[in-house]
Formats: sequence, C-alpha cells, structure tokens
Amino acid sequence: MALEQRPVGKLDHALIFLGPPGSGKGTQAKVLAAKYGAPHLSTGDMLREHVAKRTPLGLKAKPIMERGELVPDSLVLRMVAERIERPDCSNGFVFDGFPRTVAQAQYLGEMLKYHGFAHPYVIHLIISNMLLIRRLTGRRTCVIGGEIYNIFDRPPKVEGICDNDGGELIQRPDDREEVIRARLLAYEKQTSPLVNYYRRLGFLAQIDASKSVPEVEQEIAQAVASLRGAR
Ligand code: AP5
Repeated sequence: MALEQRPVGKLDHALIFLGPPGSGKGTQAKVLAAKYGAPHLSTGDMLREHVAKRTPLGLKAKPIMERGELVPDSLVLRMVAERIERPDCSNGFVFDGFPRTVAQAQYLGEMLKYHGFAHPYVIHLIISNMLLIRRLTGRRTCVIGGEIYNIFDRPPKVEGICDNDGGELIQRPDDREEVIRARLLAYEKQTSPLVNYYRRLGFLAQIDASKSVPEVEQEIAQAVASLRGAR
C-alpha cells in the first residue's frame, strides 16, 4: 500500500456528507473514507445496487429514483440499520447521501447511541444550482470501480473508459436535466432543514464546494481535524 493511502487512524465516529445533488459528496466521501480506512456508505449506491439486482427494495425504489424523489424513510432506514451492523463499521463510517430527512437524522441518532457512537460530524457542502447542473450533466461513473469523472472538469484519459480499471463510463439515468430539477427540489424541501438541525447540535462544518476537488479535499481535511479536536 502506498504511503499516502495508509489510514491516518481510526475515525471512531459517523461522518455525514450533507449537500445537494452534484455538490461532490461521493467524490469527497470516497477520499475521506480511504484516508481513515472506514467504509464509505452511499445510500444512493446501495439503492442502485438493489435496483440492478431487482430485489424487492430495488423494484420499489426504481420508479421513485427515476422521478428524482426520495425513497421512503422506512425502506432506507432498514437498509442502513442492516449495513452498520456489519463488523467493518465498528470503528466509524462515512455517510454519503444519508440522512436526507429530519426523521432519518433522528433515527440515525438513536442507531448511533445504540452502537456506542457519539454525535456525528457533519460536512455541509455549499454550492450554487448553476454549477450543480453542469456537474451532474457532465458526470460519468465507472461500472466496475465506481470512480467518478466529469466530461467538463475531470475527463478520463480515454473517452468513456476508466483510467483505473478500464471499466466503461456511464451516465446515471437520473442525471437528465428534468430529473435533476426534481432532485434539487427534493433537496431544498426535505433535506436542507438538516443544516439547521445539525447546526443546533454542533459539530457541523461549512465547506465551499465550488472550489477544485483538491481544494475542497484540503478544506474538508482541516474541518475534520478541527471537529475531532473539539470533541
Ligand atoms: P444519490 O446517489 O445520493 O445522489 P445525490 O444526492 O443526488 O448526489 P449525487 O450522487 O448526484 O452527487 P454527489 O454530491 O455525490 O456529487 P459527485 O461527487 O458524484 O441519490 C440518488 C437517489 O437515490 C436520490 O435521488 C433518491 O431517490 C435516492 N436516495 C439516496 N439516498 C437516499 C436517502 N437517504 N433517502 C431517500 N432516498 C435516497 O460529483 C458530481 C460531479 O461533479 C462528478 O462528475 C464529479 O466529478 C464532479 N465534481 C465533484 N466535485 C467537484 C469539484 N470540486 N470541482 C469540479 N467538479 C467536481
């Protein structure tokens, strides 16, 4: 393992990436999870896997995701509760796209207490809607390793092919402009109240997500260090 990939220590916390679609939650959550050797728990990825495998959950979630709406809390919470039971979560984990409603956040608080974790750290990614649409319409994802590219700002070396593993790069079905608008609306109405919810509880850091990927990564690293120092 290369030196820079070696985990820097245990996270021992739940870390939440909160931000609108396309703000860079997945891009940054992967980096941070690797840095701490913690699992990256993307509820979007988990749901897409259920859809691909045509499980009962996937069959319920598919039309909802295609419309850009949120999957009902009861379904998402059961899926997350099962995931954090697994042994790889015992030293903390990084959530990407969860929680997304106040009810999910309240339930997460109970789950964390039950598993002996303290309050979560929350990284709030802030960015304008104009930039989000460019990022989402330009996003391409590797079908093998899930690496995220952008045809405008972060293209692969060879068009349509992942630099890491040669996998095909595909566009997500919900990255069409009309679905993106529905997703942004769902964020505004159902998820953005979580900013105040977590601000009141403390341990929330605001990050300017319009900067470049390395700059955002650097700001997040500093924010996590100061959140850890404040515990
Ligand atoms: P989900 O998969 O979570 O999608 P999302 O929240 O809409 O977020 P995205 O994955 O689109 O964006 P991101 O913030 O991760 O950005 P990324 O890093 O990829 O959810 C999909 C659906 O599943 C939901 O609509 C809902 O139906 C359902 N769902 C999921 N969780 C749920 C829950 N908890 N409850 C209910 N329903 C749920 O970056 C985007 C692009 O920008 C990429 O191309 C990237 O390369 C580029 N980029 C990133 N950072 C930068 C930068 N700093 N500069 C330039 N380009 C950048």
